[in-house]
Amino acid sequence: MAASLVSLVVTAFWVMLPAYVPNNAAVLAGGGRPIDGGRTWDGRRILGDGKTWRGTAAGTLAGMVLAVVLNAIEPSVSGVVGFDLPTFPLAAGFGLALGAMFGDIGASFLKRRSGRERGAAFPGLDQLDFVVGALVFAYIAAPAWFTATFTLPVLVVVLVITPILHVVTNVGAYLLGLKNEPW
Ligand code: CTP
Ligand code: MG
Repeated sequence: MAASLVSLVVTAFWVMLPAYVPNNAAVLAGGGRPIDGGRTWDGRRILGDGKTWRGTAAGTLAGMVLAVVLNAIEPSVSGVVGFDLPTFPLAAGFGLALGAMFGDIGASFLKRRSGRERGAAFPGLDQLDFVVGALVFAYIAAPAWFTATFTLPVLVVVLVITPILHVVTNVGAYLLGLKNEPW
């Protein structure tokens, strides 16, 4: 039981890595022209200055590159942990990475509609937006891979560990001076 829980957590973390990295890469690469081009809707920005073309492209690319790297190291990592980890078809890596970016962009859209300025916290949404986006896009991009990989136990573990990891990495990025807010 304990061993299978560990393998479940390791698997969930592994399959979500191409979705975890895009947000952090976007923070590092962000800047330049905002996606909404400064346009407003009902007096508020559509997305805001925190969602840029460069950040989105860099984040998506980073997630896809990571999926390719994970494929390359999968045999050795599986050997170390003692069970088989999944690999990522190109479409799956693309879906996870782009979906994570879209989930985050969708959340900014909702934040602006609810009157929250750029950088404002939206507890719950901030922690899960990119997971929902990544899962939906991965399902669309690679349905057979998705259903074989994201079994119900894996999905449950993903939904539990992701908010925890998100809080930890964002507080870390804030303390390192990479992010303006700790969420
Ligand atoms: N970023 C980006 N493009 C994205 C996502 C993020 O350029 N698609 C960069 C921006 O520089 C952004 C930073 O990463 O300021 C932090 O991302 P996030 O916390 O998602 O944005 P916020 O600035 O907090 O804006 P929002 O309130 O819309 O989330
Ligand atoms: Mg933010």
